[in-house]
Amino acid sequence: MALLEIKNIVKQFGDFTAVDNVSLSIETGEFFTLLGPSGCGKTTLLRMLAGFEQPDSGEILLDGKNVANVPPEKRPVHTVFQSYALFPHMTVADNIAFPLKMAKKDPADIQKQVSKLLEDVRLAQFGNRFPHELSGGQRQRVAIARALANRPRLLLLDEPLSALDAKLREQMQIELINLQKEVGITFIYVTHDQGEALALSHRIAVMNKGTVEQLDIPEKIYGFPKNRFVADFIGQCNLLDGTIVEVGSDRMKVEIAGVGIAETLPAEGAKVGAKGTLALRPEKIKISSSLPADVADEVHFRGTVHDCLYLGDVTIYIVELENGLLLEAMLPNSASGQAKFFNDNDAVEIAWRFDAGHFLTE
Ligand SMILES: Nc1ncnc2c1ncn2[C@@H]1O[C@H](COP(=O)(O)OP(=O)(O)OP(=O)(O)O)[C@@H](O)[C@H]1O
Ligand SMILES: [Mg+2]
Repeated sequence: MALLEIKNIVKQFGDFTAVDNVSLSIETGEFFTLLGPSGCGKTTLLRMLAGFEQPDSGEILLDGKNVANVPPEKRPVHTVFQSYALFPHMTVADNIAFPLKMAKKDPADIQKQVSKLLEDVRLAQFGNRFPHELSGGQRQRVAIARALANRPRLLLLDEPLSALDAKLREQMQIELINLQKEVGITFIYVTHDQGEALALSHRIAVMNKGTVEQLDIPEKIYGFPKNRFVADFIGQCNLLDGTIVEVGSDRMKVEIAGVGIAETLPAEGAKVGAKGTLALRPEKIKISSSLPADVADEVHFRGTVHDCLYLGDVTIYIVELENGLLLEAMLPNSASGQAKFFNDNDAVEIAWRFDAGHFLTE
């Protein structure tokens, strides 16, 4: 049985539907992420799981039991928010001990548990400090330790790293993955940062306007986005409008208007004449000054370099195709001392393997 079962949840504010018939099932021990743009309903959904907000319809089952009438403090669920919400006048150890004292645990046990929790979040030396003597990342680790103190079945994390700078955020991401493995508690993580979602999660639900657009493992979400919204939201993606002109067993042909025919993997239920979008990641596109000898499996077109964006480790090339269509290609700058391989207005051949793209039918 799933740990958490969300069934047809709807939440309205006035006549605005913030969460629109969402159903999800989350297993024990999962690191599950709700990912989507600002305003898509992530926090609203979390607040209903925590019990701060009541759904208008639908059910939330925890361990098979409906929690509709269970108040927040009685749910085996804790929330970590973006702002750390620590008690400023209490030491780190006292902050973490607070929920245990509220639960009237034995003082000796509390001390043992606090030491263990401090170790779990790698703050063993910091028990006697006050929150203002800590960095942002350390404060957030205290908040997580406090939320874990009562061993919740479910830990809800609402953009817990968004106040941290990029470097610290990456470090905390690695720590969160390890912590979740160690404590074995189910995490539901909210973010609008797709990189963070891909790096952390076992599974991701991509949300848009109150609904779930796709629920999958990170590799599938990135490699096989189900529709234009997901393809566009998750990383950079070239989206080429096309029409299916031939369907074979292991390949199909798509006409990209004004450019030519591109072979691709057959889309599900593909029919000749159907329109759709070829989704193609920039890192799958190769650029060369002349066509390579073996192009049997390659889709290739001529183009002109329109713009280059040097980003240090990689360079993004915007290539204009014959019909004026702009394609984005990303090349690693692995050769030392070489910043970029092509310049504006260079005539180039662009190519990608037939199975590099993914056709989304409408
Ligand atoms: N109490 C409320 N009253 C009215 N509208 C609300 C209320 N809470 C949220 N909303 C609206 O519901 C929608 C979803 O809000 P929510 O906070 O769930 O978004 P979110 O996905 O968490 O966004 P963000 O990434 O910006 O935190 C928004 O349009 C928001 O304005
Ligand atoms: Mg939010």
